[in-house]
Amino acid sequence: MFNRYRLISGLALGLFFSAAFLSADEYPGKYKLNSASNPLYEEECSACHLAYPPALLPQRSWQVIMDNLDKHFSENAEVDDKTAAELGRYLQQYAAEKSRDYLAQKFLRSIANNDTPLRISKVPYFLKEHHEMPQRMYKNNPKVKSLSQCETCHQQATQGNYHEEQINIPGFGAWED
Ligand code: HEC
Ligand code: HEC
Repeated sequence: MFNRYRLISGLALGLFFSAAFLSADEYPGKYKLNSASNPLYEEECSACHLAYPPALLPQRSWQVIMDNLDKHFSENAEVDDKTAAELGRYLQQYAAEKSRDYLAQKFLRSIANNDTPLRISKVPYFLKEHHEMPQRMYKNNPKVKSLSQCETCHQQATQGNYHEEQINIPGFGAWED
């Protein structure tokens, strides 16, 4: 009896401690976005920059972006109506509100209800996460140019992985917190 009791409480303790060690911060999937990829989106929206994860902006932001592709930042990124409709559906389906991923929720919750950011790189949570990085690492860095070029530093950005261990800033190397 005594041994069985020890075994069970030992197991319970073990479970308790492994749960504690895997607490939010270390959970392996925490910095990965799991939105399904879409071949049309990859093709149409990755010519000038990364095909950004839909889960990093709210639905209303994607709506405005898709309604104004002819005046897209400094470019004309217009597509035909049929393509626009399909891209729009995909973006609405996987936008931040529809995602259960940790990062998506962090981004979404940081945005005020009356704000419609048109840049991921202007979302408050994004600014908070990047403000420790000195400007010389991106603004005046010819290999990066702008914070919009996520994949120049986040080596697995195309797989939706933004874990700190996967950061390598061109000309500066790995990120040491
Ligand atoms: C012809 C080039 C081009 C194409 C094609 C294009 N974009 Fe862009 N996009 C840009 C430029 C230029 C910027 C601004 C980048 C910068 O400031 O460095 C931008 C920025 C963005 C941003 C904001 C990035 C940030 O800073 O957070 C989003 C979101 C975006 N594009 C979505 C899309 C979507 C969705 C599509 C496909 C429908 C698309 N883009 C296709 C040129 C393009
Ligand atoms: C010039 C390099 C650079 C670029 C470009 C860049 N990042 Fe980052 N990013 C960093 C660094 C460095 C950190 C870690 C900052 C820290 O820990 O203080 C970071 C942190 C993050 C985090 C938080 C991850 C964590 O472990 O907490 C996310 C999410 C993220 N970046 C997303 C993006 C997205 C999306 C883009 C493009 C729109 C982008 N980043 C562009 C360098 C960059």
